Order: sequence, then C-alpha cells, then structure tokens
Amino acid sequence: METGKDDPRVSMDEITALAKRRGFIFQSSEIYGGIGGLYDYGPLGAVLKRNVKDAWWRDMVELRDDVVAFDSSIIMHPLTWKASGHVDAFHDRMVDCRVCKHRFRFDHLKDTAQCPDCGSKNSFTEPRNFNLMMRTFVGPMEDTASTAYLRPETAQGIFVNFKNVYQTARRKPPFGIAQIGKSFRNEITPGNFTFRVREFEQAELEYFVPDDGRDLDAFKEWVELRRAWYSSYGIRPERLRFYELSEQERPHYAKAGIDVEYAFPWGWGELESIAHRGTYDLDAHMALSGKDLQFFDEASKKKYTPLLIESSAGMDRTALTFLIDAYDKERAVDPNGKETERVVLHFHPRIAPVQVAVFSLARNKPELVERARSIERRLRPEYRTQYDEGNIGQLYRRQDEIGTPFCLTVDYETLADEAVTVRERDSMNQQRIAIEALNAFIRENIG
Ligand code: GAP
Repeated sequence: METGKDDPRVSMDEITALAKRRGFIFQSSEIYGGIGGLYDYGPLGAVLKRNVKDAWWRDMVELRDDVVAFDSSIIMHPLTWKASGHVDAFHDRMVDCRVCKHRFRFDHLKDTAQCPDCGSKNSFTEPRNFNLMMRTFVGPMEDTASTAYLRPETAQGIFVNFKNVYQTARRKPPFGIAQIGKSFRNEITPGNFTFRVREFEQAELEYFVPDDGRDLDAFKEWVELRRAWYSSYGIRPERLRFYELSEQERPHYAKAGIDVEYAFPWGWGELESIAHRGTYDLDAHMALSGKDLQFFDEASKKKYTPLLIESSAGMDRTALTFLIDAYDKERAVDPNGKETERVVLHFHPRIAPVQVAVFSLARNKPELVERARSIERRLRPEYRTQYDEGNIGQLYRRQDEIGTPFCLTVDYETLADEAVTVRERDSMNQQRIAIEALNAFIRENIG
C-alpha cells in the first residue's frame, strides 16, 4: 500500500469534530447548552492530558535531582494576590458594543471603530479594566471580608512556601519547585477551543538560583531544556518558535523572557512562558507579609534572596497542540488500486491514549475472541491497551483516528502458528510476530 501525505493544515472544525466524535473533548455541561470557555475531557482526552502531564512531571521532576514536587491549594489567602499584583493589575481592557451587547478585548480588535460581530460603526463603549480573577467566598458569610479568589496561576503557592520547602527538603539554590494544577481566569473572550479557556491546568517550574552572575546562563539552559522536551515528543520543529520578548514587552523586573509558541491553524499562539523574574515575587511577599523568605546559606552564614527562573506551560494548550500536530489526512492506495483517505494521529507512543489495540478477526468465534482477550490481558500491565472485534478495516480506521501506534490481529492462523499480525500505524506495514515475542517487540518499538 502506498501512502501520500497531503500535509494540509487541519482546520479547527476538523479538530473539534474529531475530538467530539472519538471522545477526546466535549463542551462542558453540553446538555444545558454549554458554558463559555469550559470543557470536559472524555475517555481518550482524559488519558491524553494525563499522559502530557505525566511526561512533563517525569522529565521535569522525577528524572532530575534538583527539582522537588509541590501541590498547593487553589484558594489562598487573598493578600497573596495583593502582593503578586493580581488584584491591582491582572486585568484586560474591554469594550462593549452598544448595539449587539457583545464584549471584546480591546487589544484583540482589528478595527476599534467597527464591531466584528454585528458590523456597527463607532458602537463601542470606552475601554474599561476588567479583573480576570474568579471570585468566591470562604466560610458562611458572603461579604467583602470573606471574598477569596480561585488562583489565576499556581506559582504563587510555591513562592509563599519557599522557606517551608527549602528547609524541609533541605535544598539550596540552584533548585526548583514544580507543581501541576488547576488555574482559573475569567477570560473576556475565551476561544479557539481549549486554547483560551476559563479553567485550565498549568505545569509550573520555579527554579531558584543564587545571584552569582550565572543566572542568565540558567535561564538559557531552561529554554534549551524546554525546546528539547517538545522535540522529544515529536512536535514538528517548524511549527514551534521561541519568541524573545523585548525589554518593552516584558515586565520591568524581568531580565529576560521567552514565549514558546506553536503555529496553530489560526496563527501563532503561546504554549508556555519562560521568564527570569529576578527577586520580584519573593520580595513582594516579604514586603506585604512581613515574613522572611530569604535563603540562609549555612556554609557562608549569609542570607540572600534567590533569583527566579520560571517555566510555565499550559497543559490544556499542550494537549491541544499534540492533537493538532499529530493530525494528518493521508491518501492511501490499496492493493486493488483503489484510493482511500485516512485520518491518522501520529502521536508519540508515550502520548498516545491507547498504545496497543488487540483485535479478534471474528466476534462469533469464541476461540479467537478468547485468544485475543488473553493477549490483551497479558499486555495490559505494561501498556495502555484496548480490545476490539469486528471488521478489520473499520477497526484500523478507528485506531488510526485515535493515534494507536500498534494493532494486533488474532486470526484463524493464530490458532495454528501461535502468531498474530502486527500492523504499525504510520507505515501501515504488517508483519507476523509470535505471541511469545510480543511484549519484547512492543517494548523495543514503544520504549
Ligand atoms: N506564572 C506565570 C504565568 O501564569 P502566563 O503566561 O500567564 O504565565 C502560562 O501563563 C501558561 O498558562 C500560558 O503560556 C498558557 O499555556 C497557559 N494559560 C494561560 N491562560 C490560559 C487560558 N486562559 N487558557 C488556557 N491556558 C492558559
């Protein structure tokens, strides 16, 4: 069978249709008409996002000896957000169209004199600041004294605990604290599917370094590490760029900043921000709380405030990126010369929700079904597996669409030769492999 890659850019309509059809992502509360900027992950999407988070956690935390784990609460003392600047400055400028009543981010408008939704001219209100933090109440009263916020980033939980962590984990800069968790932003204009949402997960790594003149080198090292991370999971390098923020674009306290961007079907979009934040965050919390968050170096008996290198990646955006980047529509010519088209997700095996699918060629032949099921059971402790049965062409099409790297088929010959047909997703090559050799074969090819 020959294949020819069309390499068209997938449209967001195709991605959302596939996500729904195959159970990756659904609109939240769909039966009630949905709710803006909120999504649910279906059986395959939940595993996809878990794999993305696990890959980040494994590489950024478990495989390093200089990064420790953390998990802070979503609701924190409201003064946290005063110190961080979020109460006073975490807002977008927004305008309302007086005719259609729709609301827009002022900085997203292509034409500030014409409403993009209803076309009315000069119908916008003056821009107003809109704070993006979601509010709630803690305790039985609903008043200003009990107002709290759902965190708009996970990082502040790490900063306020800096001393607790370095003392209990017995760490000394350079070292990092990492956490993955939910964040909330009341975005004015959520959109582009799960790209800009109101509830999302961030993977944040806060790396504290001494002020010894090597901080910019540490920043560059983290940029390279993150570049290697994306490429090791197969993100096409030509669709990734590391955009260096100019002095005007980054906050006044930041010595350097890079946005990791992906070429989405609608254009470049930020996946992650990597920033040299100096001592800004620890200083701000020390000033407002009056508590000491400096590092005390036992060796030199000196106290200092470490500098901070932050890598902050959105897990929903990264999962969406894997989905889009993996997508291909390919023409295939079968042995009879008939042209067909297949949709295939070329997921990296560690990211793929299902790694091995095991089929029985016939559903009404108990001996085949039992053989296939027992092979699937044997592989399950090591791999993410799925059993299915029926028409092989349809089964392949389904597994291609969900990005399963290997399909194994138990057929009548299996009962005689104790072997199965293994079909590889990308090349569509098929080969006979002895059942006894399956685990080793898959281990070699999946890693
Ligand atoms: N602590 C730094 C920080 O939060 P950020 O650039 O505001 O920095 C980091 O956010 C990452 O979080 C972004 O690059 C993006 O991947 C993700 N993110 C931010 N807002 C988001 C939203 N509304 N929806 C989905 N992901 C979002």
